[in-house]
Amino acid sequence: MAPLRILVVASEVVGFAKTGGLADVAGSLPRAMAQRGHEVAVVMPYYRAVRFGKIQPKPTSHVLNVPIGSRTLACRVFESKLPNSEVPIYFIDAPEYFDRDDGHQGRGLYQATMPGGYKADYPDNAERFAFFSRAALELIPTIRFQPDIVHANDWQTGLVPVYLSEVFRTNPKYANIRSVFTIHNIAYQGMFGADVMRMTGLPGWMFNAKQLEYHGHLNYLKSGVVFADAVNTVSPTYAREIQTAEYGCGLEGLLIEYKDKLSGIVNGVDYDVWNPALDPLLPERYDATTVFERKPASKAELQKRFDLPVDASKPVLGLVARLVTQKGIDLILSSAPGFLDLGCQLIFLGDGDREYHDQLRSFHAKHASQVGIYLGFQEQLAHLVEAGSDLFLMPSRYEPSGLNQLYSLKYGTPPIVRATGGLADTIVNANEENLANGTGTGFSFNDYTPSALYETVKWALTLYRDRPNDFRKVVRTAMKQDWSWERSAADYEALYRRLLG
Ligand code: ADP
Ligand code: GLC
Repeated sequence: MAPLRILVVASEVVGFAKTGGLADVAGSLPRAMAQRGHEVAVVMPYYRAVRFGKIQPKPTSHVLNVPIGSRTLACRVFESKLPNSEVPIYFIDAPEYFDRDDGHQGRGLYQATMPGGYKADYPDNAERFAFFSRAALELIPTIRFQPDIVHANDWQTGLVPVYLSEVFRTNPKYANIRSVFTIHNIAYQGMFGADVMRMTGLPGWMFNAKQLEYHGHLNYLKSGVVFADAVNTVSPTYAREIQTAEYGCGLEGLLIEYKDKLSGIVNGVDYDVWNPALDPLLPERYDATTVFERKPASKAELQKRFDLPVDASKPVLGLVARLVTQKGIDLILSSAPGFLDLGCQLIFLGDGDREYHDQLRSFHAKHASQVGIYLGFQEQLAHLVEAGSDLFLMPSRYEPSGLNQLYSLKYGTPPIVRATGGLADTIVNANEENLANGTGTGFSFNDYTPSALYETVKWALTLYRDRPNDFRKVVRTAMKQDWSWERSAADYEALYRRLLG
């Protein structure tokens, strides 16, 4: 079959700028598609993090003239390659929108820290990402890349399918392009006041409940769903869940309406980066045959890095997460005293909402000999937490796909998860039955309650301490799982081809 041409549009890409799993997906799905023989290009904003990043993009001679509000803004285009690949990535350079993030000053890609320590969205996010979405489409003729598919991701790019359909379609260069819109997280919708309509340059009549409007607001995510030729989310279970009031964040009705173009594809893992057999960030590398001899070195290093007693016999429960309601931090904090009584050490690596920072700080202050915290974003440390923990905590309230539990499988660190979204689709609970049939890869529970989490941790520790052969079996089974991009990329390819007929 003829190779496809795909333009991936994303607001963050690993290696350049990252706040969460979206960046991992936007960096590794294109490479997996390229490995399948397709021609892929990626486009993202030229943030300050990119400008001062490890990989220095090169300026090109391209200039885009992008209408926004009542003006037309000229922006430059930078260019690089996705790490370890030949896949081109383009950067939209508009300093007034994207040259402002600065970790030291508490300024992120989408939010800034306010004087009270709270994080607030940038007030011009609507404009920043309308601009980016439109610029991404303007780029197409400029770089002479004629895609079959434009693949947009999350609310930041929700207007891409809209502009494509309503502004660019009459231009023959765009007439045959199909759009895919992936929902990585429906809780973030990009909702703005009605006054923002004018800035987008879209005709005012589109501001109605069947198209861009959601209860008097302009909703970017909804817009993407309505106008994309296909919509997917990042696991089959989450695709079902978001059609219910419990998970749909108000868009369940819309998703039911469009369910025929909605599907779920679980994320894959980049095993070149997340693989204990290759990982340069670990004191000793290991695979399924050496895990029990060599993983303890990571545990000792982790305990040291977090100022905890270096003690092989203490079970270490690790967490790496954005500290937001989604991740079940409240459940963990409620049951954590119980974990300490069970003799565990707890390690938290996270960045996010101020209330969780405060709570974790005071919990740490009370139990410094058993609790380690790092409140910030530290990619390298994330690898050590995956490798050095005995069990990985991920009791999410909801989880569209989740990557961390997949990383922890590979690192031989069975995850403790709530069976929701992608966690339900990827983790097999090691109960007696699944221990007996050799399929258990982690530990899962259903009810979003501290006691359900506590009981699950207790069960995991029973295996860890009293039934080491069973625990080792879970570790080995976990490490054998293959969540590489190959299968997910094949699913995306099938989705793209369906659209092209
Ligand atoms: P989400 O996208 O909801 O944050 P995922 O599990 O899909 O959840 O992906 C999270 C990604 O972000 C993983 O690569 C994880 O290692 C990384 N990550 C999250 N928080 C941090 C942090 N504080 N420091 C380093 N990496 C982090
Ligand atoms: C979102 C979700 C996470 C998913 C990631 C990448 O941030 O919260 O579950 O893995 O996007 O798709």
